Amino acid sequence: MTIELGVLAAHVPSICHRENVPEYQQDIVAKMDAISEKIETIKPDAVIIVSCHWQSTFHHYVDVSQTHKGVLTAFECPDIISDVKYEYPGDQSLGEKLVMAGKRAKIPVIAVNDPTYVWDYGTVVPLRYLVPSEDVPVVNLSITLAAGLDETYKWGQEIGNVLNGDYKRYVFIFSGALAHNLVRGRHHMPTVSEQALDKQFIDYITGKNWNLAKEMLPQYAKIAGVEGGGRHLAMMLGVLGDKYHPTFHTYAQSSGSGNAIMTFDFKKEL
Ligand SMILES: [Fe+2]
Repeated sequence: MTIELGVLAAHVPSICHRENVPEYQQDIVAKMDAISEKIETIKPDAVIIVSCHWQSTFHHYVDVSQTHKGVLTAFECPDIISDVKYEYPGDQSLGEKLVMAGKRAKIPVIAVNDPTYVWDYGTVVPLRYLVPSEDVPVVNLSITLAAGLDETYKWGQEIGNVLNGDYKRYVFIFSGALAHNLVRGRHHMPTVSEQALDKQFIDYITGKNWNLAKEMLPQYAKIAGVEGGGRHLAMMLGVLGDKYHPTFHTYAQSSGSGNAIMTFDFKKEL
């Protein structure tokens, strides 16, 4: 088993620059800083990250570039995320292994190896906190709109099989919110109904009721407008299976979205 740690992470635009983080999102940043120290201790061979903001239409993409280097200005919010430079090593061989596994499973997966491809902020923002030294190879993955939750879950299982059949050590980051029916006004919490659904999902996960979390996800994703249609969560359930000890760290709002920070330790002593 070599996925040492899974992380459900937030990427709300207002945390991109530490100096701009509002008070009600400070705990997100504090918890991601603490997780960063843990990742530093693990010294992973690579970080795999799936982002709800890399939304492909038909194919699942795997960024197999040897180097990820760019300057991000987010087209969705260039007033908040502008001129953000990043440079991380990639892991081409790992990325290609994932692509091959997807193809073998008859999942439409394609490798992207293009130095002109610029990362989305769902990838950049969590990495700025979780791997601030930019010294760990990264393989980033899209979510795919033509793929439902079942296919995304299966793709996650295939990815998990590759990573867990290896002798190397990995950290897997799932970047996205829970409830995500956005409204104007960054300070707004999700509605009480959406918060209740988020809480139930988190409770199923922390109680290791993986099957109930999976069963809940399709209706929950629709009603609460879960970011990415819940695909990052379907992938999370597929990748991690039932072999992890979950920890809930915090939950905070951003414009009506609910953002949970959770970690998943392999074989953590209880
Ligand atoms: Fe987002």
